[in-house]
Amino acid sequence: MDKGTPKAIRLQDYRPPAHLIDTVDLQFELGEEVTTVRSTLGIRRNPDRPDAAGLPLTLDGQRLDLVSVALDGTPVAPDRYTVTADHLTVDQVPECFSLETVVRIKPQENTALEGLYKSSGNFCTQCEAEGFRKITYFIDRPDVMARYATTITAEKARYPVLLSNGNLVASGEHEDGRHWARWEDPFPKPCYLFALVAGNLRHAEDHFRTFSGREVTLRIYVEPGNEDKVDHAMRSLKKSMRWDEEVYGLEYDLDIFNIVAVGDFNMGAMENKSLNVFNTKYILAKPETATDNDFLGIESVVAHEYFHNWTGNRVTCRDWFQLSLKEGLTVFRDQEFSSDMNSRAVKRIADVQGLRTVQFQEDAGAMAHPVRPDSYVEINNFYTPTVYNKGAEVIRMIHTLLGPEGFRKGMDLYFQRHDGQAVTCDDFVAAMADASGVDLSQFQLWYRQAGTPDLSVATAYDEAARTYRLTIRQTVPPTPGQPDKQPMHIPVVVGLLGPDGADLPLRLTGEAAPAGTSRLLHVRKAEEVFEFVDVPARPVPSILRGFSAPVKVKADVSDADLTFLMANDSDAFNRWEAGQILGGRILLGLVADQQAGRLLDLPQSYVDAVGAVLRDADADPAFAAQALVLPTEAYLGTQMDVVDPEAIHTVREFARKTLAARLRPDWLATYRRHAGNQSFSVEADAIGRRALKNLCLAYLMALEDEEALSLCLGQYHGATAMTDVIASLQFLSNSNAPQRDEVLAGFYERWKGEPLVVDKWFGVQAMSYRPDALERVTELLKHPAFEIRNPNKVYALIGGFANGNPVRFHDATGSGYRFLADQVLRLDPMNPQVAARMMGPFSRLRRYDAARQALMKAQLERIVATPGLSPDVFEVASKSLEAAG
Ligand code: TRP
Ligand code: ZN
Repeated sequence: MDKGTPKAIRLQDYRPPAHLIDTVDLQFELGEEVTTVRSTLGIRRNPDRPDAAGLPLTLDGQRLDLVSVALDGTPVAPDRYTVTADHLTVDQVPECFSLETVVRIKPQENTALEGLYKSSGNFCTQCEAEGFRKITYFIDRPDVMARYATTITAEKARYPVLLSNGNLVASGEHEDGRHWARWEDPFPKPCYLFALVAGNLRHAEDHFRTFSGREVTLRIYVEPGNEDKVDHAMRSLKKSMRWDEEVYGLEYDLDIFNIVAVGDFNMGAMENKSLNVFNTKYILAKPETATDNDFLGIESVVAHEYFHNWTGNRVTCRDWFQLSLKEGLTVFRDQEFSSDMNSRAVKRIADVQGLRTVQFQEDAGAMAHPVRPDSYVEINNFYTPTVYNKGAEVIRMIHTLLGPEGFRKGMDLYFQRHDGQAVTCDDFVAAMADASGVDLSQFQLWYRQAGTPDLSVATAYDEAARTYRLTIRQTVPPTPGQPDKQPMHIPVVVGLLGPDGADLPLRLTGEAAPAGTSRLLHVRKAEEVFEFVDVPARPVPSILRGFSAPVKVKADVSDADLTFLMANDSDAFNRWEAGQILGGRILLGLVADQQAGRLLDLPQSYVDAVGAVLRDADADPAFAAQALVLPTEAYLGTQMDVVDPEAIHTVREFARKTLAARLRPDWLATYRRHAGNQSFSVEADAIGRRALKNLCLAYLMALEDEEALSLCLGQYHGATAMTDVIASLQFLSNSNAPQRDEVLAGFYERWKGEPLVVDKWFGVQAMSYRPDALERVTELLKHPAFEIRNPNKVYALIGGFANGNPVRFHDATGSGYRFLADQVLRLDPMNPQVAARMMGPFSRLRRYDAARQALMKAQLERIVATPGLSPDVFEVASKSLEAAG
């Protein structure tokens, strides 16, 4: 095999490490030209590896300039150790010893943003998943847990703030202008949780008193000038700490908790022990610069990283195949936190929408993998919606199966058994099963089988026998490497609505009395029949309430029944869902009309159903704002055998315009009612009202008439909250308004000093569905504010176009594909993680027509043929080509 082809790591090859590291002493000498890292490791043979006695010590290390190696204080002779591109191997090591290495690195040249790097002149680290090996030689795997002491030395004037994990135990100054700080973390941790920050930063400080009375100092560090944008993050942190105590009995375990916000970051944020590092996007916010979604995102990401302290840090992963052990569980916890802080139904709808568009697409593409993958080439490619969001759905199903008390008992047992350990998803499920007595053996298939299960539901009412029968069939589609699937254990929550719209009490055949109006049905076999008795009239079924399982449902429910559910279902999620199913059905019917060249016509019954929701909008504006959105283009695509991006876009725009025209007075009146000058707040209710108002404006702007345009311009110029500014900017950017260019230029001038706001400006233009979008995006690549080295800029402009603009990206000429491949190849040598993340659309090529497939394939072939490709991009490109056949 040629040496350029990276090989897969497999779960079945897991073995415990031959050596363990108990203590780490690190000394960083941070410099402009070179940074020196001196490491002293306390190492011993692993008693769980009886064969280890004869084995050399193998440490991971990449791009390290090795200066010296000493064992128990004595330099190691050069013939006793070997250095390769990835490892340092030391022969004939005793059972227990210390190893000192000195290496030199150049953080200022690190554009991959993994390991130690610089962002705006400040030093920071990102070690998950395998970045620690770019800082020093180490056994870089999460089942090696050690106690860390870290001394940082740097020039005081440039780097007044020196931070690492744990407690500050000593600090001082040298005579030459350098200073130093020593940090000690009392909790053993895997090296992926190590962090260091050195820079010129300002901080906000607050305090939290834990339930046992510990006073914790909370600090958020930002670059000078951003001190006015940390209040929301700080409030979110305190709420998270309180919530984890109240809901899970989990208390913070140190006297200090630091957050640092940096502008250059590959992902959202990182849960390093007591020193979380965040993308500025998930910390900085004030109403003038951040949208409501930004505020909500900050609340949930701050919570997510804080919650990792127990689910991830105190109990960590044995290996990276177990990533969902911490990520699925922690996403579930942050979702529940946000539900408790805001509106539960609205949060659930948003999460399901995300899952259905992004994760379902992944499950149907070349990169489909189980929640616990069996193999990977590059672990960074597996920080995916499947591991995170489907993983969270798997935890949610366990919660549904066990009930809240059973689930809490399971969590308690999990911590009791595994605090301080590196464990597996099986260990988590075992704790849940043992604590509750619920059999989860079949359920574990959710961790092993990829692909979105299909459920079909057939209904039958027997008027004479007064019985109602649901026949539920499941199939799990084949995915790469998994041609045959077994039936899963699927929790399906159902309700039945009587003719008056109220829930019927539910009694299954064989039961003595009705038990509740929402029932959990266990679907375990390929086909199951559930018969309800004593049903007085033909009911309307409400299936998969709360989206109780991450599946696709096809049920024989009529359009009239869906309209009935939209108006009456007691389950708010399914009230929304009924509208989505109905809207989806109608739009997909129109897509077929469009493809066949028939005239488009939106049924008046559908317009009426939407009108009814609109006229009732004030009862729950946040809910209405979600219920009035047509199924997205991406979601409609997932419902088709062959995605037709042009037809989908044409039809959806047609439906939007038709609804806008026929319900114009209602959109207008609702807009006016909610457009009044309310004082700004980020309470769920205020967010809901702004969302509804801006949705009304979106419909009105679909018509692009004088009045809509003047309302939109009025809002643009008059609004102070970024939510309202950006909404109107987006509508204008999609429009042919003569003021369009002037407004866009003015926005940039006003906000060019705020990088996060400039990202929005790039995004709005990248996602504009005007035909000249790609031309504009190509121009913007040369804009002085665009930086290819900054992930947020790449995600906004290149990602916005590739993922947020299906109709222009999938242009039949292939221009979008060529553009994306160019950008991937340009990014790859600097930042392979980000380059690979841009490849998503290519991994779904099989979902498109033959002509588009061929065009995408040509670009993938060009990519794999490029010399020096990273394993990251190589893995996605080669798997996409394999699936293309
Ligand atoms: N563990 C982080 C989280 O909270 C994810 C993360 C942050 C990450 N930065 C990363 C993963 C860089 C891989 C690479 O979800
Ligand atoms: Zn996480």
